[in-house]
Amino acid sequence: MTRTQGDAVPPEASFSLDHFIGLYEAKDDPWDNETKWSDQRKYAVAMASLPRARYRSAYEPGCAVGVLSVMLAARCDAVLAVDCVDEAVAQARTAVDKLSHVRVERALLPAELPDDTFDLIVIGDLLYYLSAEDLALMLDGVLARLEPGGDLLVAHFRDRENPGGYDGFNVHAEVAARPELDRLVHHEDEWFVVDVFRKRDPDLD
Ligand SMILES: C[S@@+](CC[C@H](N)C(=O)[O-])C[C@H]1O[C@@H](n2cnc3c(N)ncnc32)[C@H](O)[C@@H]1O
Repeated sequence: MTRTQGDAVPPEASFSLDHFIGLYEAKDDPWDNETKWSDQRKYAVAMASLPRARYRSAYEPGCAVGVLSVMLAARCDAVLAVDCVDEAVAQARTAVDKLSHVRVERALLPAELPDDTFDLIVIGDLLYYLSAEDLALMLDGVLARLEPGGDLLVAHFRDRENPGGYDGFNVHAEVAARPELDRLVHHEDEWFVVDVFRKRDPDLD
């Protein structure tokens, strides 16, 4: 099924913390991030799409069990990975326990955004759980913390079975509409969408 921009709307309210806690109570790795082939491909495409070989400091909201956090750690001097569920934070901490430059914290977004700024922000399969209001707050907050010239990578699942669902294609259109971003990379296939945007640097304009 081909999705089109605007063929769906965000949820009325952001998915609740209890919803995600319940998923982790039911299953250690609720989305099979460790093993699912479409996720392995998504992570490989995401990592290959990052334009720079190295980044100073990355922020990864919604890190889940930390599969992508480990990959980012190989390209970044520091990584802050966060998730709203304690169980996810515990599993991600285990995944990175030998990587002293990676910090995993609990944070419910968009309310608990970090104080720091970053030259890389990576958001995977998170934005479509947010209401329109929270999505706008999240993008405002993320873009305020992305340094000029820094890169924002977004990677989201495409929902091909539920035409009304707010899927990756539609979420990415919201990100692309932000005037402070230039799109550097766009990948879409039957399973997922990956985009890399660079924040304009006013000193270079
Ligand atoms: C589908 S998983 C994403 C996994 C990984 N980022 C990826 O791209 O494969 C979504 C994760 O986001 C977390 N999450 C959902 N809503 C959140 C919110 N408002 N604030 C922080 N984390 C959230 C969930 O607990 C879950 O671990």
